[in-house]
Amino acid sequence: MPITELQISGYRSVTGLVLPLDQINVLTGPNGCGKSNLYRSLYLLTMAAQGQFARAIADEGGMPSVLWAGSRRKGPVRMTINVSMDMLTYEISSGLVPSDPEFDDPFKLDPRIKEENVWFRTGKSRQVLLERATSTAMLRDSEGNRTSYPMTFSETESILSQLKEPHRFPQLSALQQELRQWRFYHHFRTDPDAPLRHPQIGVFTPVLSHDGSDLAAALMTITRVDANDIQEAVSYAFPYSRLIVQADSGRFSFGLSMPGISRPLDARELSDGTIRYLCLLAALLTPRPPTLLALNEPETSLHPDLLEPLARLIVKASHSSQIWITTHSLALANYIESYSGTAPVRLEKVDGETRVIEEDY
Ligand SMILES: Nc1ncnc2c1ncn2[C@@H]1O[C@H](COP(=O)(O)OP(=O)(O)O)[C@@H](O)[C@H]1O
Ligand SMILES: [Mg+2]
Repeated sequence: MPITELQISGYRSVTGLVLPLDQINVLTGPNGCGKSNLYRSLYLLTMAAQGQFARAIADEGGMPSVLWAGSRRKGPVRMTINVSMDMLTYEISSGLVPSDPEFDDPFKLDPRIKEENVWFRTGKSRQVLLERATSTAMLRDSEGNRTSYPMTFSETESILSQLKEPHRFPQLSALQQELRQWRFYHHFRTDPDAPLRHPQIGVFTPVLSHDGSDLAAALMTITRVDANDIQEAVSYAFPYSRLIVQADSGRFSFGLSMPGISRPLDARELSDGTIRYLCLLAALLTPRPPTLLALNEPETSLHPDLLEPLARLIVKASHSSQIWITTHSLALANYIESYSGTAPVRLEKVDGETRVIEEDY
């Protein structure tokens, strides 16, 4: 189910944004305009579906930190993320723990889910599948009957992640599965002690881990499924070079043989940019493409010559997955536009708020 529209309000610098989405989406703009905030808003949905919403908010500094810190608006202080896919719309709205002057609550940085809704749209009508207020929830079952949620539930987590008896709520269950399968990459660890730089026990790995730590196993898996594709992509990015992936008593390692160098360079010897590019290759050539693949600032520490090959890979991956790219690099955005025909969405910050720059035609 591709995402057709994303709406966000009250989240960091994103006070109110409606973004219709395509098969390939490139969001670009200067530093600090809110690119990563938009990427994180999608990531929060996947975390919500996994029951990790409070954890994700804590990783960002807690609820007070993620709420829009600019001038106070009318109405309750809320952060709302709303996503539409096919005929389903999911919305989650959260705010602060109510303050109590008598009691210093140690959990005051927690999010409180204030509302959560799922609608099923057909034509102009829409049917409510889930309606949650702070501590009550109504779900519609497969027979079309409204039932109230039978158990107590966590106020910091989505109902979607706490769905009991999924067979009774097939659409909600499908939505939960869908959001959980989105795939995100925003940081590949490439320092000298990074696990990916050292040989490691490998297993069949069709999906590279979020930090790239199982890169050797992911590369081994891709070469096993179809070695041509990845070797072509490697030699296109690094002319006359060849990827070497080896298994030594179950320990996997990788390296690159390059022109003018008498032996392959191993993972400890390759530059950060080269390793990061190999991570991107493994993420984009996955034998198990996700419905949504999101990359935050993939150009970080890449040599400028790698942007064009990266754009090709991204456009190719968009044949199997919906793609979301946030990038500071206009060159990358332009290459992607020239190969896909899809123009980037340009962002700016006005009075502290992230806005889409409307193009003049
Ligand atoms: N709670 C908040 N309220 C308002 N603005 C915020 C909040 N948190 C962060 N910001 C703004 O978000 C910007 C960072 O956005 P980010 O998405 O990281 O930018 P980039 O486009 O560089 O990825 C900062 O410049 C800051 O002004
Ligand atoms: Mg950023």
